[in-house]
Amino acid sequence: MAVNTMQNAITKICKMTSVIPLIELNNHQIAKPLAQTLLAGGLSTIEVTLRTPAAFKVLNEMAGVAESIVGVGTLIDPEDVQRAANAGAQFAVSPGVTEDLITACEKARLPLLPGASTPTEIMLLLQKGFLIQKYFPAEASGGYSRLQAISQVFPQISFFPTGGITEQNAANYLKLSNTICVGGSWVTPKKLVEAQDWNAIKKLANDAKNLS
Ligand code: 3PG
Repeated sequence: MAVNTMQNAITKICKMTSVIPLIELNNHQIAKPLAQTLLAGGLSTIEVTLRTPAAFKVLNEMAGVAESIVGVGTLIDPEDVQRAANAGAQFAVSPGVTEDLITACEKARLPLLPGASTPTEIMLLLQKGFLIQKYFPAEASGGYSRLQAISQVFPQISFFPTGGITEQNAANYLKLSNTICVGGSWVTPKKLVEAQDWNAIKKLANDAKNLS
């Protein structure tokens, strides 16, 4: 899969939503109800981060929920790419990028949304044809005002900010014409997930869905 084909797929996925909830879950047994809850709250696109030992099982469970579009996040090791695709990932998000990661995603036909946070990193991705880039870590790198300044010199790039995004600051990012959507873990707080408080998570998802 060529980079421009990846970009078309990523554009389609990102344009369907304002918010992509990021999942860091170690209990695969509650993955399905969590995906169903997000869906009921209006969020069909989900990123499952590879940050727990159970992440591939979680990915597989969530990918089995009809109507959910599940991607793999924190994808760093090229060795994980085919495994994520086999588990049902429809897209991949990485905090940065390497040549090997791009090659592995091309081979596995897994659309990649790679990350950058400096003008040079952005330009290197642009050179490879990536017109949608994750902006990470958004808040720690200077937040909305830094992304606004960066966006002015890269009007051709759409950004997916993540890292420190909250219900409070998400709307600011979404005001930027070059923010395609935002990602964050605020929709699935650890405490509520562990307590399986699906009603509270559904409300958070619905509030996130209504952000624009
Ligand atoms: C990411 O994986 O993009 C970020 O670590 C998410 O950051 P958050 O937990 O602050 O939303």
